[in-house]
Amino acid sequence: MLHTCWKRSRYIICFCVPVAMVIAGGFITFRETGKISTTMPSSKEILSPEYGNRSLCSLDHLTVTIPSDGELDNMTDNQLTDLYWSYINTIQVLCRKIVRIGKIEDGGKEVCTDVPFHPRPPCIVYSFGINYQWDFDEDAARIFGCEVFSFDPSMRNKGETYKYADNITFYMIGLEAKNTVLRKHWKMKTLEQIRQYLNHTERTISILKLDIEGSEWTSIPQMVSSGTLRSVNQMQIELHGKGTKHTLKVLRMLYNDGFRLFMRERNLSCKYSKAGLVRARTSCMEVSMIRVSFPLTKCD
Ligand SMILES: *[C@@H]1O[C@H](CO)[C@@H](O)[C@H](O)[C@H]1NC(C)=O
Ligand SMILES: *[C@@H]1O[C@H](CO)[C@@H](O)[C@H](O)[C@H]1NC(C)=O
Ligand SMILES: *[C@@H]1O[C@H](CO)[C@@H](O)[C@H](O)[C@H]1NC(C)=O
Ligand SMILES: *[C@@H]1O[C@H](CO)[C@@H](O)[C@H](O)[C@H]1NC(C)=O
Ligand SMILES: *[C@@H]1O[C@H](CO)[C@@H](O)[C@H](O)[C@H]1NC(C)=O
Repeated sequence: MLHTCWKRSRYIICFCVPVAMVIAGGFITFRETGKISTTMPSSKEILSPEYGNRSLCSLDHLTVTIPSDGELDNMTDNQLTDLYWSYINTIQVLCRKIVRIGKIEDGGKEVCTDVPFHPRPPCIVYSFGINYQWDFDEDAARIFGCEVFSFDPSMRNKGETYKYADNITFYMIGLEAKNTVLRKHWKMKTLEQIRQYLNHTERTISILKLDIEGSEWTSIPQMVSSGTLRSVNQMQIELHGKGTKHTLKVLRMLYNDGFRLFMRERNLSCKYSKAGLVRARTSCMEVSMIRVSFPLTKCD
């Protein structure tokens, strides 16, 4: 007992103390040169209205452009995959204040809270694809004080519509390009139909979250062409697939409608390799976009 204690203290004195001194010395040097500041904003400061007032700026001059349909027609599958990959991995706008809403794992999303994107009551959030995980919806209601509308055509545990919690209401409806019923009796509607049904046609949707397992590629073109996305401030989407002519065209539509990427996350559980590609890729990407309907200054 004494023996181990002595051994331990010798270990602490001979090893830990010098290491700690080196680390502390490093910190002091950095602090003196001003490279590291240990002052962190408190969460109260981060959530205050003033925090996001530093202006957004545009990285458009650096972004990857999706070429015309004719040029896309001329590209090989691997070229399309490469273009999709570099497009999604290039940030188009600098949002300075990004907040994680929901868990750090699957289901959580990155939300831009720079002015004027910070959701404030009375605000509404549409969350498509719940799969019994409510952390995003709960955070959106709790942190921003928004009314949250949660949609999932596959959740049959409790009925067509119910109040899940304060300001969170569930609807057994899915998002599609048309009003239809799918094979598993899933009721699908367009975003415009849902807005009409909920009496929201005059309201701005602060956050539109889509975790809809591939239906994003059919529903987004409809939302763009009907003009419904003009009422959406920001969008968090789980994108699926390896990149095709169609998916690139959909991304171009979003760009032309004003949506700019400010964040992306790769989910490596969908990693794949393909002959002709230099590196392995992943076919599950989380992207976050804000809609900029006003001119932004170029980032320095
Ligand atoms: C921050 O921006 C909001 C909205 O534009 C404005 O009302 C507020 O006065 C600004 N606050 C500061 C400290 O500039
Ligand atoms: C597609 O390729 C063909 C044959 O190389 C070429 O003639 C045509 O101009 C290309 N189209 C575009 C839009 O680049
Ligand atoms: C990645 O995707 C898989 C399959 O969709 C999912 O089960 C997993 O939770 C995701 N992981 C993260 C960190 O999002
Ligand atoms: C519910 O949402 C409304 C509208 O955004 C907001 O005014 C209210 O404070 C919210 N209630 C709670 C308990 O967060
Ligand atoms: C929408 O408004 C109509 C007319 O005011 C009302 O009857 C209906 O219950 C409202 N629907 C919802 C979902 O609030």
